[in-house]
Amino acid sequence: MAKDTLTITDNRTGKSYEVPIEHGAIRALDLRQIKVADDDFGILAYDPAFMNTASCRSRITYIDGDKGILRYRGYPIEELAEQGTYLETAYLILYGELPTARELDEWVHNITYHTFIHENIKKFMDGFHYDAHPMGILVSTVAALSTFYTEAKNIFDPESRRKQTHRLIAKMPTLAAFAYRHSRGMPYAYPDNDLSYAGNFLNMLFKMTEAKYQPNRTLERALDVLFILHADHEQNCSTNAMRSVGSSHVDPYSAVAAAAAALYGPLHGGANEAVLRMLGEIGSKDKVPGFIKRVKAGEGRLMGFGHRVYKNYDPRAKIIKRAAEEVFEVTGKNPLIDIAVELERIALEDDYFIQRKLYPNVDFYSGIIYEAMGFPMEMFPVLFAIPRTSGWIAQWDEMLADPEQKIARPRQVYLGSALRKFVPREKRRA
Ligand code: CMC
Repeated sequence: MAKDTLTITDNRTGKSYEVPIEHGAIRALDLRQIKVADDDFGILAYDPAFMNTASCRSRITYIDGDKGILRYRGYPIEELAEQGTYLETAYLILYGELPTARELDEWVHNITYHTFIHENIKKFMDGFHYDAHPMGILVSTVAALSTFYTEAKNIFDPESRRKQTHRLIAKMPTLAAFAYRHSRGMPYAYPDNDLSYAGNFLNMLFKMTEAKYQPNRTLERALDVLFILHADHEQNCSTNAMRSVGSSHVDPYSAVAAAAAALYGPLHGGANEAVLRMLGEIGSKDKVPGFIKRVKAGEGRLMGFGHRVYKNYDPRAKIIKRAAEEVFEVTGKNPLIDIAVELERIALEDDYFIQRKLYPNVDFYSGIIYEAMGFPMEMFPVLFAIPRTSGWIAQWDEMLADPEQKIARPRQVYLGSALRKFVPREKRRA
């Protein structure tokens, strides 16, 4: 009978080793027994950028990148986006099951009643330049929250964790909206607890002189769907940052700040901003073939295309493309969509993209919708960070509860100088 093991022969010594295979993986530590001498450290697995290394066992999000499948806790993303709300999806991601009606009421209540931020946070906001990037403000102010809720450092107290979870999910939109208002030189608009999660966010962003802000139902729902699509995505760069920083047992506000900082980069959450800039630079449909040619020649990337895990159409991109049509009925069509559709058409027929399995990812169309909804480009990564907070916390919770997890500390393959003697300053040569 076939055994679930792997036999490795070390050709340096002729010795064979049998290591167990569990869930399709071997333990990298099992390689350490492979040595040429007793004082040899043993074999390391070298895997820059974690291309083939599982850092955890997780029960939260499932992705089949070849088939273009994404599920949260077993539920297909398409069904959640069609029938769910962001807050019930966040509950699902965090606690493993869809909430009952009573659980949902209590959850929504808890989130709604933690949306206000301490007035002193506004003073932080005021300290930033008028042109400060809202993502930079968000990263800093969410870290600052740890100084307001000092009990947050009690990460093994379930009650404290529960409270910080409510606060983080509730306050991220408030911090984000205040950052936006600051950049516009506008007075902050306080949360309206009568509104939905997405509706209240729109209120805090766009409320002017009206006594009560009434969000447009289509835009409110579209934003909620976008939040669902961005809630979690297993071990991506920012989630890895959340787990890695959280593994030092720092408080969750500091860990979320680290995760948000990772999300800020143009290869991760900043990609949709980069997509819009790219579409703007291309300018018109007829310039698309020339642009593709330059990408193929290595002069820049087709932003919003390609993914470390998806080697097929990102299922989130499909949902966003459809949602864009509904949004455009309210806002009018964003002319950039024509350039994007043309780029997609040409790229998907081109050998360069076919061979490398490069398809549109979540960011390819999200920026176009956000722009149509009136969000400035700098807000795009912020719009990603708000819903991803539930995923980050769920992954952090899972990490803390996992007895196999320890402080994250990779190894290295050292290729630097061997031992040498200190050279006095006067004897050093240029
Ligand atoms: N345009 C042109 N060529 C590309 C692109 C692209 N967008 N993405 C990958 N390639 C090429 C790359 O040059 C390489 O070609 P070759 O084998 O000839 O050297 C090959 O495809 C493999 O690329 P890679 O860089 O090894 O792939 P990766 O898994 O390290 O990178 C990625 C994944 C998302 C960083 C990359 O595809 C990329 O830079 N895309 C554009 C940025 C983007 O849209 N990011 C959003 C990711 S989705 C949202 C999120 O999770 O944050």
